[in-house]
Amino acid sequence: MHCKWYDIWRISFKVMVIKKAIGCYIFDSRGKRYIDTTMGSGTQIIGHDNQLVRKTINQVKKGTIYTIPNYHTKKVNKLLKKFNPHFHNEYIFCNSGTEANMRAIRLARAYTKRNIIGRFHGGWHGGLDGCIEGNGVPDEINSLFRILPYNDEKCFNMLTKDMAAVIIEPSQGSNPRTDIGEFLKNLRKRCDELNIVLIFDEIMSGFRISKGGGQEFFSIRPDLITYGKVLGGGFPIGCLGGKYEIMKTDNVFFGGTFSANPLSMYSAKNILKSIEKGILIDYTYLSDIGNYFRNTLNDYFKLYKIKKRAIGIGSINRLLNTDKFVKNRKDRDKFEDKNQDEFYKKLLERGIFVNGNRIFHLSMCHSMKVMNEMIEKICEVSHE
Ligand SMILES: Cc1ncc(COP(=O)(O)O)c(C=O)c1O
Repeated sequence: MHCKWYDIWRISFKVMVIKKAIGCYIFDSRGKRYIDTTMGSGTQIIGHDNQLVRKTINQVKKGTIYTIPNYHTKKVNKLLKKFNPHFHNEYIFCNSGTEANMRAIRLARAYTKRNIIGRFHGGWHGGLDGCIEGNGVPDEINSLFRILPYNDEKCFNMLTKDMAAVIIEPSQGSNPRTDIGEFLKNLRKRCDELNIVLIFDEIMSGFRISKGGGQEFFSIRPDLITYGKVLGGGFPIGCLGGKYEIMKTDNVFFGGTFSANPLSMYSAKNILKSIEKGILIDYTYLSDIGNYFRNTLNDYFKLYKIKKRAIGIGSINRLLNTDKFVKNRKDRDKFEDKNQDEFYKKLLERGIFVNGNRIFHLSMCHSMKVMNEMIEKICEVSHE
């Protein structure tokens, strides 16, 4: 039986324990250095151990949790307003992307007074019941979720008036792509027709594929948006925002002990300031190295008739196990096979770490020298 990506993650970590992370490198317990391609599951867009992470020591000295609201949260709200002038100026903060999506779904249900949630095949919204497969999730919960085909117009007929929300990653981590704009536009239109709340899960794409994330990249405004990863600057975070009338819905519970803690908020404030001013994070560079990765590898695969293809959006990339065009995760899975585990194991032996979900998140520390080393090793392994 083929392993799920999270099984592989467990397997890798049985043999590999990380002791430190610097720049685009991670070092295992024996001191071996690897080029990191997961970068904290996409959080560390500047690089590990960067100057903003180190700055948070200033906040540690002032306390790590106060329970009542802190000054930084106000600043983060203000900064987020600059990125999303069309949204309400108060965001809900929590500690993970999973929690942010739980809150978004709850809010959409409260606002619409409906219960059914649409989610897309191949999407990942974290480990919340209803959004995952496997044991332990009651059928009663699954019955409140409708799985829709991604990048497939059949999904539009599956949207109905009893649906509270549709949640979607603008570009899925399982098949990151740029050619999804038209589909998203039609989805926006259909949600409007049926008064369904459109939630963009921008936990991965937010502040990564561009300053304004997926909504800017594809010029589509969702009703609610969730952030995580990059926004926390390496500290735990989840964030929910959206249209004023939805965010103001009464009597919806959002709290939590560590929600909007001063460490995460201080870190979020610093990274947002940095993004706003274009310091430390250069989205043109990140897109350029993403394109370079894909184009160089695809030229090589074509030249040597290797059945692989690099796909992606901005600095988010993955390798397909086919040279064919793939429309969505369902298509992608037709070409997945066990030999891929061997491929990634060989990369690991050559000093390239690829996480079990096989997403390559590039960072500002992935210099051209590092990119070339990585590409060279992928080419080498592709022949074996
Ligand atoms: C698109 C997306 N949504 C939600 C999540 C869940 O976030 P977290 O792992 O912080 O709970 C992830 C994490 O990988 C993600 O990529």
